[in-house]
Amino acid sequence: MVKIAPSILSADFSRLGDEVRAIDEAGCDYIHIDVMDGHFVPNLTFGPPVIKCIRPVTKKVFDVHLMIDPAQPFIKDYADAGADIITVHAEADPHMDRSLQYIRELGKKAGVSLNPHTPESVIEYVLDKLDLVLVMSVNPGFGGQSFISSQLAKISRIRAMIGERPIELEVDGGVNAGTIKSVVDAGADVLVAGSAVFKGDDYKATIGALQGAL
Ligand code: DX5
Ligand code: ZN
Repeated sequence: MVKIAPSILSADFSRLGDEVRAIDEAGCDYIHIDVMDGHFVPNLTFGPPVIKCIRPVTKKVFDVHLMIDPAQPFIKDYADAGADIITVHAEADPHMDRSLQYIRELGKKAGVSLNPHTPESVIEYVLDKLDLVLVMSVNPGFGGQSFISSQLAKISRIRAMIGERPIELEVDGGVNAGTIKSVVDAGADVLVAGSAVFKGDDYKATIGALQGAL
């Protein structure tokens, strides 16, 4: 069974609590939360206070994708705000091994994200400290971009690297009813979808359309 993680980057921020409640009730698995700093990526979103505000709205897993550099000094703030999974970018963290241990020490699941140009070899020596690998299938910063198909080979290679380990393989960017099957066939088991979920008013229908395309 694959998991669907709607990205609230594409939600209506003026009604963020209602939007989170709506995707919960529509049957999403995780709530994907894109944190951007205007430095690591060319866009700004929100930080721990906003995450803390939406935490009481749902019991679903908060899958926090940190597109910030540096990430390490802020990890505890995101843990305290209610993150369940904290994912740092390999490109933004020269001490990824230490960050992953720290996230686990805080009682959270630890993830690493790879930009499209970053080879999968960067995770080879931290596999036993990982709960999730997040493959970016667009250049991070914005929703609504087109899927970069070169990432399918990377997804397959990471699936082979994971082997029997209990690590989730998540893919983020350009996932929609037209691309989801190839992503899952390559080995992904958690799918982030921003614009594909929030494009309509009926989130149960848009999530169902993704699941139906598998
Ligand atoms: C991009 C974000 C994604 C984004 C995906 O930097 O990490 O989570 O919201 O949006 P879609 O699904 O529209 O490509
Ligand atoms: Zn994301």
